[in-house]
Amino acid sequence: MRTQVGIIGSGPAGLLLAQLLQQNGIESVIVERQSRAHVEARIRAGVLEQGTVQLLRQAGVHERMDREGLVHEGIALAFDGRQERIDLHKQTGSTVMIYGQTELTRDLIQARLNAGGLIEFAAPALAVEDYSGAASPRIVYEKAGQHHELQCDFVAGCDGAHGVARQSIGANKLQLFEKIYPFGWLGILADTPPVDKELIYANHARGFALCSMRSPTRSRYYVQCSLDDQVENWTDAAFWDELRRRLPPAAAETLVTGPRLEMSIAPLRSFVVEPMRIGKLFLAGDAAHIVPPTGAKGLNLAAGDVSYLARALIAYYREKRTDLLDRYSATCLRRVWKAIRFSWWFTSLMHKFNDDPINYRLQLAELAYLTESAAGSTMLAENYVGLPFETFE
Ligand code: FAD
Ligand code: PHB
Repeated sequence: MRTQVGIIGSGPAGLLLAQLLQQNGIESVIVERQSRAHVEARIRAGVLEQGTVQLLRQAGVHERMDREGLVHEGIALAFDGRQERIDLHKQTGSTVMIYGQTELTRDLIQARLNAGGLIEFAAPALAVEDYSGAASPRIVYEKAGQHHELQCDFVAGCDGAHGVARQSIGANKLQLFEKIYPFGWLGILADTPPVDKELIYANHARGFALCSMRSPTRSRYYVQCSLDDQVENWTDAAFWDELRRRLPPAAAETLVTGPRLEMSIAPLRSFVVEPMRIGKLFLAGDAAHIVPPTGAKGLNLAAGDVSYLARALIAYYREKRTDLLDRYSATCLRRVWKAIRFSWWFTSLMHKFNDDPINYRLQLAELAYLTESAAGSTMLAENYVGLPFETFE
């Protein structure tokens, strides 16, 4: 099989890239390791930055998002028994959209299939070959026990944190930056009304907690847990008790509990690979960088990468320009590092790291400063709603 752009992975990065290319008459094939049902059932991110929302509108996959998504103009920070609002809209003129990654993925898959595009599900890529010379690169993948090859002009490695695209590149060609945090997030999804109209990020002496949502009737909550914790250790009642303890009294009292639809544990890490392009192989999204979820940046960074990559590929196919492809890695990395910094900083501010009481006091002082100072609130708000995408001509 042959195509113009071979895409590994049908997460948000791969699907959105395929959609942007298809709109511009560029052909692509996606190979995805998992089944469609598996991909469409994964519960992950929930917060879309304004730039991501605009990109989805531009890509024509916005109808359901605009109908069902919830526009939020603020977030709450809870600490020291207080709950303080950061007014995102007042500080930045911008907002965020609450719309589950699960829903977005379904919309993108549907749009791709409606347009007659191909997604090979249950087809794990095994390697990317011949991407650094003059020859055409190839994705070697497996489908129904048979090996296949997809010949392409370019390969987009959108295969997440554990994909093969990055692994196909020799370790001596890449520089890796990594930070592992000494805790994880235990998350629950439940058909209960959210405890508040907006998200609450809580710093508590027992550890971090986050109150998020998917809709007016579906809540998503997280509590910081230890790295060696397991879902089997938690009953629903134990989760709700722990969450309640970490919330300010008013929120704890109004919290509505219910049976879990899903419960999972996610480890937290910061990770960046440089460069994001070697020859004709481009890495995008979690394949190139991971952030701890505290800043809600992962999916949004993936959208930023593919927005640049799509523009660079369109310039190549329309005008034979290669300069935008050459600038892909450096352009993405400038924005990526700012989000890596913000996510690391917000994680450090909100979580319990150890029992040293000075850390907790310093966090409380910083939270008081941030919420009482216009400069502090603006810094947080600007990063949370998302830094602007760079434009290139
Ligand atoms: P992925 O979504 O991981 O997709 C990669 C795809 O590649 C997968 O479908 C995988 O099956 C496939 N694949 C892997 N290997 C192969 C192979 N060998 N062959 C073929 N296919 C392969 N981000 C936010 O922006 N906001 C949030 O609120 C937020 N909250 C989060 C909460 C949690 C608990 C977690 C875990 C993450 C959160 N994120 C959030 C991060 C976000 O989910 C990811 O950054 C996002 O999924 C990245 O998209 P991607 O397409 O790059 O990678
Ligand atoms: C979520 O709703 O899953 C979510 C929201 C905000 C975050 C992380 C996750 O910072």
